[in-house]
Amino acid sequence: MSARNTSNNAGASLSPKPVLDALKRHIDLESIMGGYEAAEHAKDALAGFYDVAAQLIGCAASEIAFSENATRAWDMAFYSLQLNEGDRIVTSKSEYASNYLAFLQRAKQRGVVIDVVPDDAYGQMDTDALRKSMHPRTKLIAITHVPTQGGLINPAVEVGKVAKEHEVLYLLDTTQSLGQIPIDVRTIGCDFLCATGRKYLRGPRGTGFLYVNEKVIDPCAPPFIDLHSATWQADNKYLLKDNATRFETWEQNIAAKLGLKAAIEYALELGLPAIWQRIQTLATNLRHALSDIPGIILQDLGLHKCGIVTFSCNKINLQALQQYLSAQHMNVSISLQEYAPLDLASRGITALIRASVHYYNTDVEISKFAAAIVTFLKKT
Ligand SMILES: Cc1ncc(COP(=O)(O)O)c(C=O)c1O
Repeated sequence: MSARNTSNNAGASLSPKPVLDALKRHIDLESIMGGYEAAEHAKDALAGFYDVAAQLIGCAASEIAFSENATRAWDMAFYSLQLNEGDRIVTSKSEYASNYLAFLQRAKQRGVVIDVVPDDAYGQMDTDALRKSMHPRTKLIAITHVPTQGGLINPAVEVGKVAKEHEVLYLLDTTQSLGQIPIDVRTIGCDFLCATGRKYLRGPRGTGFLYVNEKVIDPCAPPFIDLHSATWQADNKYLLKDNATRFETWEQNIAAKLGLKAAIEYALELGLPAIWQRIQTLATNLRHALSDIPGIILQDLGLHKCGIVTFSCNKINLQALQQYLSAQHMNVSISLQEYAPLDLASRGITALIRASVHYYNTDVEISKFAAAIVTFLKKT
């Protein structure tokens, strides 16, 4: 099967050869040596995972934990917080449904209050309103940098300033932004960040990581622990690891971890500023091409927009368009209202087509994509 013109990098991108080589090499090694022995053989390379992940986001290796996806990384941070009745979590309208569900669970179980800050005129989190929403009981600001459902980029650095002014913990979901936008945790000032491997980082599925600022590692006890995250001591005491690996478990997909390491090295080699520049150019070109098509309604919010390009069209069945594009070897996702109900319901949107370009897409692909949509609309 030939490679696709994939415009679904916000779903899962295509991994470059060094990532596939790292994965395959290790699986082959496991089949020859055995899983534990192969992991021992790859010990140094595995230790290097923490160094490259730290380099990518500007932190120390001891502040990184490997995880099987962004959700589990986010959960390990969120559920480590001791939130009690009346404590407040502040978030934005674009928050990802899984994260919001966790807030709802804490509201139900512990009586935690959720404050949703309104958007500004551009549709991004309003940082003046955020400042005003700060309450003596606010314990956490948790936002999504780039939402699943559009090209919006939330003002992560400005939010970090508010968190610092009010000495409130800050959890940033960079599942959709890491790998397309340069990210530096010291500049942003977040305490936690979650990331996934398979999207803009071009890593394997089933990988991700968590960043935990060294200052908050000690006060944060993971919601569950094992003999990797802690040691069982004399007289029935236990000691948690003193670095972020206290948020990991013992068993890991070693081949996938090595694949994610290779993906991060690949991104670092290309350079995030160059990647970001190219993505913005392609996404702008795609938005222009789509805006020329009668009936297509671009739906991206935000003052600055990223590689995720969303649109709707009143006249058509979105699933039928997705299938038509797929038959032309063009991948897109459909973002449903339930993925981000606060945002999409308030805009009266039940579903969107989500195309998402990466640096390896081309202007020729964009033209073909727009032409395919024109043909589909003529047929329907
Ligand atoms: C904004 C956002 N956060 C979190 C996730 C969950 O990521 P993962 O599937 O790696 O757990 C997604 C997945 O699409 C997402 O778009």
